[in-house]
Amino acid sequence: MEMKKRVAEAAVEYVQDGMVVGLGTGSTAFWAIQKLGARVKEGLRIKAIATSAKSEALAIELGIPMVPFAEVDYIDVTIDGADEVDMEFNLIKGGGGALLREKIVAAASRQLIVIVDETKLVRQLGQFSLPVEAVRFGIETTKRAIEQLGCRAGLRLHDGSPYITDNGNYILDCEFGTIEHPEQLTHRLNAIPGVVDNGLFIQMARKIIVGYRDGVIKTLE
Ligand code: A5P
Repeated sequence: MEMKKRVAEAAVEYVQDGMVVGLGTGSTAFWAIQKLGARVKEGLRIKAIATSAKSEALAIELGIPMVPFAEVDYIDVTIDGADEVDMEFNLIKGGGGALLREKIVAAASRQLIVIVDETKLVRQLGQFSLPVEAVRFGIETTKRAIEQLGCRAGLRLHDGSPYITDNGNYILDCEFGTIEHPEQLTHRLNAIPGVVDNGLFIQMARKIIVGYRDGVIKTLE
């Protein structure tokens, strides 16, 4: 918890007056939103766009001003967590189920700062099951088509029922083991009818702020 808080606070130092800020989702992004809330109380003037209903509710509770997406041309900086990060700054995201909005927000951002602990750094992506957001209609067929790409896909459940994203879709968690060619895989997945998007973020991150067990924090860029 302490390490997540520290990397989150290091990322928030990049936020300046007047910026539009993208708010990530997950237990690390939680601390970034907390810190932003504290800075807003001290007088920081920002507008925010959240990557999930949960992060939006937290931001509103903390008094962070939100702006409708339609009213901004771009986001200055987005701070978000990740489930895996490789040496080329490719990411797996979506463990928290918010990958679609996270990717839309990341794509609209001038800078994506990713905050992780050292356990998320990997040589090759794929140990963490890759989340794929898919529409509910025809989910079995979509699942079979995804499995043809060399994984086992499982419908994500929540309290025994299918997990439903903020966008009203399902998530298939896909066990690839290792992903040799992430860029090729993202295109193949997204070409399957029924797939809305997947959790591979190919070279979207500008900075990776990593917390190490010994307390050191490093910024990779
Ligand atoms: C949310 O959908 C995810 O992409 C998170 O950013 C990711 O799962 C990291 O979450 P933690 O910071 O909780 O590990």
